[in-house]
Amino acid sequence: MSKRRRLVVANWKMYGRLTSGLVLARDIAEKAEAARPLNFDVVLCPPATLTWACSDALMGTPVMLGGQDCHTATHGAYTGDISAAMFADLGCRFVIVGHSERRHGHGEPSELIAQKVEAAQLAGLTAILCVGETAAELESGSASEIIEKQLKDSLPQNVKMANLVVAYEPVWAIGTGQQPSPEDVAAVHRTIRKALGEIGPSVRVLYGGSVNPGNAGALLAQEEIDGVLVGSASLNADGFWAIAEKCQ
Ligand code: PGA
Repeated sequence: MSKRRRLVVANWKMYGRLTSGLVLARDIAEKAEAARPLNFDVVLCPPATLTWACSDALMGTPVMLGGQDCHTATHGAYTGDISAAMFADLGCRFVIVGHSERRHGHGEPSELIAQKVEAAQLAGLTAILCVGETAAELESGSASEIIEKQLKDSLPQNVKMANLVVAYEPVWAIGTGQQPSPEDVAAVHRTIRKALGEIGPSVRVLYGGSVNPGNAGALLAQEEIDGVLVGSASLNADGFWAIAEKCQ
């Protein structure tokens, strides 16, 4: 069992309309309510269009709210972007940064992600920082070095470890149904923890990539794994809650 309070994060990505999103948020909140008192944390990251509606639906429930990405500035002439301060304003406590769909899909380098971590923390949010190797990097045998470098380069100088979560998400495991073994994940988590150093023992290190109700138990049986970041399986309340329960 992990030494830290476990955390399960739902990342809905670009899925969900107002009605379907609200039904899903309410269903998840209902399950969390029924399971009170929870001995783990639950965070829901809907698309930005649903943040306000979900904030209202989750108010007073044990489910916390997060954004999926943020800009580095608090405000300004940045068409289409959303700041961490804006997410905080809507009741968010967390924001995902450095997801591979941002690193690779939008060409975001670690240096930019470090600025996002800083912006998130300045806004009072906990940054969920994602790192992970591609299939080619895994094959070349350089995964550990890649992950360590991504982590170091994605942390601002003045990082607040109390407001940081790291998610190890191998790019090749996201949305593919493929996954490293729980033992391999645990080994990467040890590398991450070592890289975080003495100041990072309180930081929760999650795993993400094709987590589902069938494989969550084996992952969470590893004491190194402090929780999971769930994409597609978080779009179903029963399935997501079956994963969440494994965090107990
Ligand atoms: P997946 O996504 O669970 O659909 O693989 C995980 C993620 O990208 O956070």
